[in-house]
Amino acid sequence: MSEDSVNRPRHIAVIMDGNGRWARSRGAPRAHGHQAGFRTTRDIVEACAKLQIESLTLFAFSSENWKRPEKEVGFLLDLFLRALQSEVAKLHENKVRIQFIGDRTAFSDKLQLQMSEAEKKTLNNDGLKLAIAVNYGGRWDIVNAAKKIATDVQQGKLQVDDIDQTLFGEYISLSHLSEPDLFIRTGGEKRISNYLLWHLAYTELYFTDVLWPDFNEEEIKRAINYYSGRQRRFGKTGDQVVNNDA
Ligand code: FPP
Repeated sequence: MSEDSVNRPRHIAVIMDGNGRWARSRGAPRAHGHQAGFRTTRDIVEACAKLQIESLTLFAFSSENWKRPEKEVGFLLDLFLRALQSEVAKLHENKVRIQFIGDRTAFSDKLQLQMSEAEKKTLNNDGLKLAIAVNYGGRWDIVNAAKKIATDVQQGKLQVDDIDQTLFGEYISLSHLSEPDLFIRTGGEKRISNYLLWHLAYTELYFTDVLWPDFNEEEIKRAINYYSGRQRRFGKTGDQVVNNDA
């Protein structure tokens, strides 16, 4: 299938898994795997921009990742900081708009500052919308939305009867983006792991055994080809979709 003829997803959401196993298979420390994973992240962002994907959301650090050994958590946070320092200028040049989702209050002031500066600098870019989930959990996101809605009701800005799925969705992270069309998880596990729980309701799921540091442009094209062959029915029958019935 030629690249032009594939039905491309507008928004891809990724769980980048397998860095640790990639390192272990080489007898190297886990940090080596994360470093290699970072290089893959850079390549995949570039590939998505080239393939004209509108939005890419990456799970970089889950709210459960704090349970890892202190040294590994420290390494990952340091890697994010260094990545921001080294990559933002180039991403900006390439018109990428960066946004972070998750509870960032747990991070150092320095890291929080780098994040908000990256967001501010790239705010008006009209290229790839890159969202990075850090200290993020899907349940946190839903609870956070519920709290904000409750506050607005309490302050009289909303009535309880105004609350429906559309309104709720507006309080969830990434409400300004289209919902993910394609979810990719590398590293062989077939789980959502508290990722974008609200958003993935109708998303096509793609799991691959390839470990994140080995994932590349060819692999993401494979995932996109898988997506292009799926028929998205959103609860309708296959015939309705084929006939384009409302
Ligand atoms: C999962 O592999 C990976 C992570 C928890 C961290 C993700 C970080 C990167 C890909 C590198 C940096 C990215 C940015 C945006 C700067 P794992 O450690 O769970 O692997 P395992 O399942 O094989 O142990």
